[in-house]
Amino acid sequence: MGSKISSFGKTADGKEVSLITLVNKNGMGIEVTNYGATLVAVTVADRDGRIDDVVLGYDDVTDYTLHGGYLGATVGRNCNRIHGAKVAIDGKEYILDDNENGNNLHSGFHGYNSLLWDFEVIEEELAVKFTHHSADGEQGFPGNFDITVTYTLTEENEVKIHYCGTSDKDTIANLTNHSYFNLGGHGSGGILEHTMWIDSDAITVTDARSIPTGEIRDIKGSPMDFNTPKKIGKDISADYDQLIQGAGYDHNYVLKNQGCGLRKIAEAADEKSGRVMEVLTDSVGVQLYTGNFIDKDSRGKGGAVYQPRHGFCLETQYYPDANHHENFPSSILKAGERYDTTTVYKFRVK
Ligand code: BGC
Repeated sequence: MGSKISSFGKTADGKEVSLITLVNKNGMGIEVTNYGATLVAVTVADRDGRIDDVVLGYDDVTDYTLHGGYLGATVGRNCNRIHGAKVAIDGKEYILDDNENGNNLHSGFHGYNSLLWDFEVIEEELAVKFTHHSADGEQGFPGNFDITVTYTLTEENEVKIHYCGTSDKDTIANLTNHSYFNLGGHGSGGILEHTMWIDSDAITVTDARSIPTGEIRDIKGSPMDFNTPKKIGKDISADYDQLIQGAGYDHNYVLKNQGCGLRKIAEAADEKSGRVMEVLTDSVGVQLYTGNFIDKDSRGKGGAVYQPRHGFCLETQYYPDANHHENFPSSILKAGERYDTTTVYKFRVK
């Protein structure tokens, strides 16, 4: 039990990067790095007590800088896509990076995933608090935005991620964690046999470039529906426009019980290992992304070979491109107000 700080290598420009390990009384551990405030590892027992690492990642910072995919990263100031790579806030237009087909994905070329965060280990809480002063104009967004991202490993086997920030101008604040989970172990292969439940009756429909059209579609009874737990692979290849366009699941689910604070919104289970992961959040949406674009034959931690669909993400968020759709909850953070959101990934066995 306790915490440890070790070296995670150096960035290309020679900056030292740290890896912080937290272990709780049950022997569950997490590793986080200040590069991208990234979750590098989650080591947790299966039903027979065998410990495996259930998130995809790399052995040192160099691989994180060389590969895309946002493995385990904190994504912000805005996660997901913004159509046309521009936003209007208080009547003024702000130009963002076009880093995907004319659109902005995960805040462009200089996202929070690729910067070195300051950090502090809070030993008695088994927590690591990352801080970043995001200057006015960083990534194109207005406002000096001071943000903290705190990872806490609880004795209830939860990885709790708390985001908290304020800005001196109205801005967009919409951060997420981009961990790819594989409850059989990060090197164990595909996730299509995992069972998934999501507390949602609707998705925000996207076009061929994964940009929301504005339509909120009822998905009850459709291949998108996870109200009754089913295997991720059951309907993933169905003849359904959204699954064809996304090359699988890559969609924002409109969560039920919005405004009710932290509540359970999803659960994934791996029958083989017995590991179960519950997701709790106070957010309005979650992106189920089934790792459709993981680089083929990529090498992860310990030489593990990753392929598409070897990990799934449940990225809590505002609906994508909220700024362009009046029927979506607003992702604008008003000057002087507090951005405060929490997501929990909780592990158990059955
Ligand atoms: C997006 C995917 C994208 C992935 C990695 C996810 O949040 O929804 O479309 O491929 O991030 O960039």
